[in-house]
Amino acid sequence: MDIGGTLIAGPAKGPLKGNITVPGDKSMSHRSIMLAALADGVTKIEGFLPGDDNFATAAMFEAMGAKVTWLNDEKTALTVEGVGLFGLKEPENVLDAGNSGTAARLITGILAGQDFHSVLVGDASLHTRPMQRVADPVRLMGAEIDGREGGNKMPLAIRGKKLKAIDFVSPVASAQVKSCVLLAALFADGETTVTEPKATRDHTERMLPLFGQAVERIDALSVRLKPCGKLSAPKETIQIPADPSSATFFAVAASLVEGSDVVLNRIGINPRRDGWRRVMADMQADLILENEGKVGAEPVADIRVQATTLAGMKVNPQDIPDAIDEFPVLFVAAALSEGTFILDEAEELRVKESDRIATMVAALQACGADIEEKPDGAVIHGKKSLKGGVTVDAHGDHRIAMAMAVAAQKADAEIRIENAAAIATSFPSFVELAQRIGMNVRWETS
Ligand code: S3P
Repeated sequence: MDIGGTLIAGPAKGPLKGNITVPGDKSMSHRSIMLAALADGVTKIEGFLPGDDNFATAAMFEAMGAKVTWLNDEKTALTVEGVGLFGLKEPENVLDAGNSGTAARLITGILAGQDFHSVLVGDASLHTRPMQRVADPVRLMGAEIDGREGGNKMPLAIRGKKLKAIDFVSPVASAQVKSCVLLAALFADGETTVTEPKATRDHTERMLPLFGQAVERIDALSVRLKPCGKLSAPKETIQIPADPSSATFFAVAASLVEGSDVVLNRIGINPRRDGWRRVMADMQADLILENEGKVGAEPVADIRVQATTLAGMKVNPQDIPDAIDEFPVLFVAAALSEGTFILDEAEELRVKESDRIATMVAALQACGADIEEKPDGAVIHGKKSLKGGVTVDAHGDHRIAMAMAVAAQKADAEIRIENAAAIATSFPSFVELAQRIGMNVRWETS
C-alpha cells in the first residue's frame, strides 16, 4: 500500500529531556462526538484529538445533521449541537470512516438503530479489516447489514430497524464490539447485556453516564444497558485526557536513550489502557506517577520517565487488551532490552491498521533485531543497538511508523521509514513533539 510520507529518523544525538503534553485520547474523542451528536443540547468538548480518524467521525455525524463548531484553530475544542437520540437524518452520500476501525465499528451500532439506509466506506486498509464481529450482533438485534464476504468487509450497507435487546457474548475481546452493541442498545426495546472474554477499555461505559444514560457493570466481564430513551448534553465540558497510546512512544524512547528524563503530562491511566505501564514496569522501566487526579470520568497522572536498562518479560495474556495498541513500540523496547520478551495469544494484532506482527517483525529484522514471528505473537531477544542505513515500510500504519522512529534513536545510522503519512490519523504533532524532547526525526522533503 503506497500512502506516502517518509520519515528520516535517528540516531539520537543526546539524552531526551523535557516536559510535554501529548494530544487528546483518540478513543474518547470518537465517543465524545458520537454521544454529543445523539444528545439533546449543545456539548462542549476540550482536549479533542485533531487527528484524521476523529475528523472522519465528526464529518459522518455532520452528514446526519449534528452541528460541529470548532472553537480554536488547533481543533482541540469544539461544541456539538446534538440532534437528540432519534434525530439523525439519512445521509445523502456514503459515510466515510477513513482509516478508523473505531469509527466504523462504533457507528455501525448507531446506524443499526436508525430508521434509514446508510452505506459505510473507508480507506483501503479499513476495507481489509473484519466487520463480522459487529455485523453479527447488530443482525441479532434485528438490523439488516450486508457487505463484501457476506458482511465481513466494508463497504457495508446498513438498513436500520427497531432493535431487540440481546444478551451478547462476544467471541473477541474488543472494546469496539462491546461499544457497538452498547450504542445499538440505546435504541433497543429492553435491557441489553454484553459479556466479553477479557476485559477491554471501558470509555463508552464511563462516558454514557455523563450524558444521563446509566450503564451497569455486572462483573469484570459483563455490562448491562437499559435505554432511558434520551441522551442529554452534559452541563460540564467533556475534558479528554492525553492519550496513553501516544505517550508510550516517548516513554519507550526516554527509557532507551541514555541519560533521558522526560515528563508526560495528564496521561490517561485508566487500568484498561494502562497495560503498557505494567509491561514496562515488568521490564524494570523507571516510570514514576506524579499528580494523580481525574479528568471527567477518567483517572490521569503526569508520568516521569528516566532512562534505564530494560529487562525481558512474558506478557500476561489478560493484559493484552489493556496494551493492544502499544505492542509495536513495546516490541521496540524489547528489541533493545537485556532479556527475552515473549508475547503470545495476541493474534488480534494481525487485524489492526496493518498486520502488526508481520510489519513489526519485518521492520525490526531489517534493522538487525533478533525477533521471531509466531502466529499469535513474537519472541524477541534484546540487543544493545540496531543497524541503521536501512529503509523500512510502515505499511500506512501510524503506530508502525512512530514505533520505528523510536527504534531509530538507538540505531547506528539513520533509518528511512516509508508510508508513514498515516501518523496524521492519531498523532499529527508527533514529529514536532518528538523533536521538542530531542528525538532525531524529521519528514523527508522531496
Ligand atoms: C479501540 C479499541 C481497540 C483499539 C483501537 C481503539 C476503541 O480495538 O485497538 O485502536 O476505541 O474502542 P479493539 O477493541 O477492537 O481491540
